[in-house]
Amino acid sequence: THKIILDSDPGHDDAVAILLALGNPNIDLLGVTTVGGNQSLDKVTYNARAVLEKAHATDVPVHAGCDRPLVRPLEVAASIHGQSGLDGVDLPVPTRPLDPGHAVDWIIETIMDNEPGTITLVPTGPLTNIAMAARKEPRIVERVREVVLMGGGYHVGNWSPVAEFNIKVDPEAARVVFNAPWPVTMVGLDLTHQALCTPEVQERIRSIGTDLSTFVSGLMDFFRKSYKDNQDFVDPPVHDPCTVAYLIDPDIVKTRRCPVDVEVKGELTTGMTVADLRGPEPSAEECHTQVAVKLDFDGFWDLIVDAIKRIG
Ligand code: BDR
Ligand code: CA
Repeated sequence: THKIILDSDPGHDDAVAILLALGNPNIDLLGVTTVGGNQSLDKVTYNARAVLEKAHATDVPVHAGCDRPLVRPLEVAASIHGQSGLDGVDLPVPTRPLDPGHAVDWIIETIMDNEPGTITLVPTGPLTNIAMAARKEPRIVERVREVVLMGGGYHVGNWSPVAEFNIKVDPEAARVVFNAPWPVTMVGLDLTHQALCTPEVQERIRSIGTDLSTFVSGLMDFFRKSYKDNQDFVDPPVHDPCTVAYLIDPDIVKTRRCPVDVEVKGELTTGMTVADLRGPEPSAEECHTQVAVKLDFDGFWDLIVDAIKRIG
């Protein structure tokens, strides 16, 4: 099993990532940390707690982290996720209080208190907390098992022609994270635009027939409309759980090793993840970064449906 820390900004697809982590037996979700991104820190932190409540997971701690990017002002994605960050569903009131302590400190403590090579970081929002943690306690960089993040894209953007939201809003943090020598898997838009919630997929989810499956289907209804209205997608791409799916079964998310760096001062390209895909493909010894390229669509949605069923 993989012990993970999910660093997120829920967010419709972050919510699905939380559910996949909770409902899959190969994942041990140690805690959820939050970062200002899709909405303000207060809102996404409440949403994280409410999603855990909805999934009866009141044993999972939530720690709030940075409320804005390292250098730049906060830029939220209300056009995609609404004013609450999780519009379109009724959220339960969380019974577990917010856990004390800043997310950055909790991430550091958790990594330092566990055996080296056992904790995987799964960021699904801007990389502010992860960059801060790496700067505050540099020993975490060689101590984590790997970083599997949703962000970027080697051929496509969504917040600019060439930049993806999580990277675009805090490119300086992304630069820190991609340049630290830990193993990084970038699950970017090239991959997540294959994770479309088609009507058939959504019907599979809805027909599970639980309160939770109705909730997820409601999230997808809103997400579908957002992506239709804003980006002319027929079906919404459910980005964030692709990270967790990769950890559960690497056959579901095929990767390609290549150097990746982040543009922080481009005239047109700030926030672009620049991947060097010139051959030959480097080895893991030569290159600590890789990018996700091909999704097993059916395998991915099977995992999501199974997790929602298991949670009950
Ligand atoms: C990413 O941005 C957010 O809106 C989503 O939650 C996802 O993490 C996609 O670009
Ligand atoms: Ca997210």
